[in-house]
Amino acid sequence: MKYKGIIFDLDGVICHTDEFHYQAWKTIADKQGIYFDEIINNRLRGVSRMESLEIILERYTGTPLTHEEKLQMADEKNEVYKSLLMQMNETHVTKMVLDTLKDLRKEGIQLAIGSSSKNAELILKQIGLNNFFDAISDGNNIEFSKPHPQVFLLAAEYIALPPENCLVIEDAQAGIEAAIAGGFDSVGLGDWAKDCGETYHIQNFDEILSIIRRKY
Ligand code: BG6
Ligand code: MG
Repeated sequence: MKYKGIIFDLDGVICHTDEFHYQAWKTIADKQGIYFDEIINNRLRGVSRMESLEIILERYTGTPLTHEEKLQMADEKNEVYKSLLMQMNETHVTKMVLDTLKDLRKEGIQLAIGSSSKNAELILKQIGLNNFFDAISDGNNIEFSKPHPQVFLLAAEYIALPPENCLVIEDAQAGIEAAIAGGFDSVGLGDWAKDCGETYHIQNFDEILSIIRRKY
């Protein structure tokens, strides 16, 4: 098999946190009187916390904010977000995702997380997958966020495989671009990672199995 390792994005691939990100950013935007809606929220997929804030601030018309004020807004958003994450539990991973992960493990594939989130460990704990993956590369160990490939390159290093033997699974364009920049083949999952250079496109998570079982 060509692929000996799979690097999964977390938010939007293993589980869904968009609604919590939306609610948390909306709380901060409303407080500052900044217009924010679901369409703007879609642009935040795969993008780091501070870069997300900059996208939200495109609609800000008040006096210029200092770096400290921006950091404070991002921290405030994160506190709201983390309290919303407390609602998550094992039911937030679908049976299809869980069964597929177990089948991939049976195939002897190394399984890693490659997420821009600094809350990846917390989310994995909430959904009961904190001890499942062979490696976790996340927002805490990177200097550059997707579309930079650093998070995936580190994940590949952690599972001791070169990029050409790893497959990246992503739901966001920034993630597909990061995979391409790192020399990885990629799978775009769902409508937000379509026609952006992905190697394969799928609508359902279990289709990963047929991709990795292909003979090359
Ligand atoms: C990504 C999400 O996984 O993590 C983005 O798709 C989010 O929407 C980013 O901004 C950073 O998340 P966090 O948890 O570090 O604020
Ligand atoms: Mg994602």
